[in-house]
Amino acid sequence: MKPNLIAKDMADTYDRYFQNDGYRARYPRPNPATLEYLLRNGAADAERILDFGCGNGRYALALLARSNAEITAYDISAASLAQFENALSHTPFGERVRLIHGNWSRLGRSPRYDMILMLFGVLSHLGDRATRVAALKRMRGLLGAHGRLVVSVPSALRRRPRELLKWSLARRMHVALPPLSESGNIYFTRHIDGQPLTFFYHLYSPRQLRGELSEAGYAVQACEAESLLPEWWIAQSRALSGLDRLAARILPPAFGYGIRALAVPA
Ligand SMILES: C[S@@+](CC[C@H](N)C(=O)[O-])C[C@H]1O[C@@H](n2cnc3c(N)ncnc32)[C@H](O)[C@@H]1O
Repeated sequence: MKPNLIAKDMADTYDRYFQNDGYRARYPRPNPATLEYLLRNGAADAERILDFGCGNGRYALALLARSNAEITAYDISAASLAQFENALSHTPFGERVRLIHGNWSRLGRSPRYDMILMLFGVLSHLGDRATRVAALKRMRGLLGAHGRLVVSVPSALRRRPRELLKWSLARRMHVALPPLSESGNIYFTRHIDGQPLTFFYHLYSPRQLRGELSEAGYAVQACEAESLLPEWWIAQSRALSGLDRLAARILPPAFGYGIRALAVPA
């Protein structure tokens, strides 16, 4: 399957995920540790932030409340942006937000952002390695000279072992077609309200994430475990997110549920 078909499928999957409100129910707020991380690493003083793959804006809305930044929020899912726009209409922040749907070309080409976010698996959804590195390069072109990229991706050691095994066996038997012919790439299906939703993912090791970032022209300043517990536990329970923050500090990056990296133009 070609990358552009992956994007089409992912738009359809996420449209249905946001439309039935499954996403908001599962992830009602951002991971507080990652939100603080963003604020500590530039978001608090940023003038312009791009949230690439913003979803329903759970991070962007929290950042708007804690900074004076203007936020460009981009997603391929129209339903995610509709949910974001609706939430925004109940806040005073509307004038600081630009919502962009569809083709990346609408993001322009000039380096204008102090910070770019690709949070909670967005990079993993984009397609094969060449597509992901091309996207990272494109983001690099949009970052100002002192800009920062924060990306978080699912860890191959923690996520979807059955699917990893299934596609690894398919590769050995030479029956896995691109992009599944590439190690770490999987499809998996989750049932939300009885509805099957199929996702394409690349599951990462810290080494692979660093490799893609450096090939795209970044210097990696930090690479760490984003959390020990699954994201939905943290997004739903303040008590668990507090405990998790302590645990994640001593967890090697590969053992994180997600791997979070901070990168700057090299
Ligand atoms: C797991 S959600 C994360 C959303 C948000 N960053 C968050 O932390 O809640 C992944 C998001 O990536 C978006 N996405 C998937 N493929 C994309 C692509 N090719 N371009 C832009 N966004 C994409 C989806 O529509 C979805 O909103």
